[in-house]
Formats: sequence, C-alpha cells, structure tokens
Amino acid sequence: MATTGAPRDAFGTRAGFILAAAGSAVGLGNMWRFSYQASEGGGAAFVLLYIGMTLVLGIPIMLAEFGIGRRGQSAPVGALRKVVGAGWAKLGWLFAGCGLLILSYYSVIAGWTIRYAIESIAVGFPADAGAHFGSIAAGGSAVAYHLLFMALTLLVVLGGVHGGIERASLILMPVLFVIVIGLALWATTLDGGGAGYAVYLKPDIEHLMDHKVWRAAAAQAFFSLSLGMGAMMTFASYLDRRANLPASGTIVAYTDFGVAFMAGLVVFPVIFSLGLQGAVGESTVGALFIALPGAFDAMGTVGRVVGTAFFVVLVVGALTSSISMLEVVTASFIDEFKVSRRKAAFVAAGVAAALGLLPALDTNALGLMDKIAGEFLLVLGALLLAIIGGWIVRRQMQEELTQGASPWWALQVPRILAVLRYVVPPIVAVVLFFSARETLQVVVSFFSG
Ligand code: PHE
Repeated sequence: MATTGAPRDAFGTRAGFILAAAGSAVGLGNMWRFSYQASEGGGAAFVLLYIGMTLVLGIPIMLAEFGIGRRGQSAPVGALRKVVGAGWAKLGWLFAGCGLLILSYYSVIAGWTIRYAIESIAVGFPADAGAHFGSIAAGGSAVAYHLLFMALTLLVVLGGVHGGIERASLILMPVLFVIVIGLALWATTLDGGGAGYAVYLKPDIEHLMDHKVWRAAAAQAFFSLSLGMGAMMTFASYLDRRANLPASGTIVAYTDFGVAFMAGLVVFPVIFSLGLQGAVGESTVGALFIALPGAFDAMGTVGRVVGTAFFVVLVVGALTSSISMLEVVTASFIDEFKVSRRKAAFVAAGVAAALGLLPALDTNALGLMDKIAGEFLLVLGALLLAIIGGWIVRRQMQEELTQGASPWWALQVPRILAVLRYVVPPIVAVVLFFSARETLQVVVSFFSG
C-alpha cells in the first residue's frame, strides 16, 4: 500500500481515547432505544439480560474490534485486509455502508432532539406532546434539523482525531455524566415514582424466559456499544502499542451500561409518576419524544428546566456518537483513496445527509432503516467479528490484546478469547437468525403497505 507523507492522525491521551470510545457508545441508544426496549421487554428482565449480553458478548467483540484496528493501523477496509486477508476488505466496505445508513437516520432523530432542546428553552414543552411530535417528526422542518445536526457532526470530524473528536469528547462527556447523574438524583424526589422503579428494577420470570427479550437485549447491546460496523475498530487504529486494550474496552462497556441504566432511573419514575406508561411502548419513539415531554410539561417550571437539561444531554450524546459513524466512512476514504480529510468528510456527510432525507420525510422508513441496520447488519457484523477474532486470527489477537496490557489484564486475555471463540458465536448466530426473521417481516410489511 502506498503511504502518504503526513503521519496518520492519533489520539493524544489515554483518557482521550477512552472518552471518545465511550462517547461513541453513549448516545441516543442509551436513552431513546434503551428505554423503549426496556419497557417492551418487561423493564427489569430486559435490564438483567442486557447486562449479561454486555459482559458476555459485548466486551469480547469490542476487544476483537480494538485488536484488529490497532494492529491494522487503518480504517476497517485496510485493517481487515492487512490483519485478516485481502478478501475481507469487502467486510470493511459493508461496515462503512452500515455506518452511512445508521448515521442517516440517527441524524434525523438527533435533529428532533435539537429541536426539543431549543423549544424547551424558547417556549417550553407542548401540552399535547403526541400531536406536537406528529407535526414535527417528518417533513420540511425535520429535514432542516437533520441537516443542522449533520453539519455539526461534519464540523467535529473536519477537526481530525486529536483536534476534533478527542477534544469534543474530553469536553462533552463529563458534561453529559454530570447532567445524567443530576437528573437521576432529581427523579428520586418525585411522588409516585415508586411504581416506575419497581417495574424497572424487579425482574419477572415470564419476560426472562421470552426469546424475543433475549434477542432484543443482544441487538441493543451491539447498537449501544457501537459494535458490528467498525466504529471501535477505527478509533483503535489511532492508538499506539502502549494502550491497555482490555482495560479500556471494559471501562467503555461499563460506562455505556452505567449511562443507560441512569437514563432508565430518570425515564421510568418520571413516566410512572404521571401515569404515562401507556405512551412508552406504543411506538419506538414514544418514550422519549411523547411521554417525557408530556411529563415535563405537566411539571411546570421545574419540568422545563429538567427537560431542557435532558434534551441537551441527548444532543451531546448523539453528537459524540455520530462523529464516530462519520469517522468510519471518512477514514475509509482517506486510507483507501488517499484523499484529504476535508474531501473525504464532505463526501461522506453529503451522502449520509442525502440518504437521511428518506427517514426525515417518512417515519416508517426510519423504523425500517433502524431494523435493517440496527437489528440485522450490526448483529451480522458482530458474528463475523467474533469468528474472525476467535478463530481466524486468534493468535494475532492474543498477541495484540496482551501488548500494552497490565499483568493482570494480560492474564485475562486468554479467558476473554476463549469466550469469543466458544461462547459468543453460537449465541450471536441464534440471535442473528431471529433478527433476520424479524427484519424480513418488517421489510415485507413495509413494502406491502
Ligand atoms: N452507540 C451509539 C448509541 O448508543 C450508536 C452507534 C451505533 C454509534 C453504531 C456508532 C456505531 O447511540
């Protein structure tokens, strides 16, 4: 491969990498997707299964991505080619395509959150949140906010890894943590929130035994940890040999779970204290964009302040995630076509912005895209990564993950790789089967009207 004269971009600090990776993980997935999935999956039962999936499937697959990325020192297309074999470059392009797809609809949802954040400051929350959401979810203004969010994402990525992504993460992530913790503490003061905590924290057997809840928990773990499309691989490609990969991956996974769990500690009591639980499960967007604004409106001034903080957190989380999606595509273009970061980022963001017109004009298309990418492609990507890391390049993974690890973590590497080899593939294969079936049903029903 030809090399350009300039050295490759890199993270400046260990904390910078961890916060950027945590920033990729923590996003709308933790608040929007997690809370409605949890309420559909019976609350606590889902939460419990989700922790299991994060530990058993999430951490090993994340480490596979870290290992391949750092060893390859390039975006997924090049990293897979160098580390696994020439034919695997195609998988890298599939990852880039998946990144564009997710970014396109993610940006539409993030656009709604920008709008809610601005409106809550300017005019407060709507009294009829359902009708309000219905009027803004699709159409010209949804397109405008989607483009605004895409422009923000582009701006950060144009700044590069150290000057853009790392700097944004170092500032934004601590802000996000503080606000989320503050909101969870505030939620404990609500009258009638107890029923919400009960649903959220007391698992019932019926949901625990339901295979649908298992599937949903696994798919949610991949989406929330940004796994299965090369985002973590791309970030790890900007690391040097001193980084402790197993420790970093574990910190990122726990952080991601922590924020999702705290978001639930806000959403469930707020919604139950106002008796709005019916609105949550109704639609994929119900919890976040209808039930919560309705609750904030009913709480008067306090609701307005708290609600503003909540939507600001969402915008921040969405931005630190969307930059990682755009970076996968941008880095692929830079590494493969030897173009400037500027050109690569503009083209990638332009394509995602154009693709996003579809979900911005049609919420059903948005749901469909989330199924295809979030529920199917990521699970497929995760399975292939487990097979690659656990079977095809296992020796290299052993070496790479041990490199830079502290002695204790180095001892854990063989154990983690054994899980990646024997435990992860069969579980993810079963999940993939059900995800494929479910996705197919949604696709068929979408096209048959
Ligand atoms: N993990 C992000 C979230 O929870 C979404 C994401 C998925 C980001 C895939 C990058 C890659 O919102």
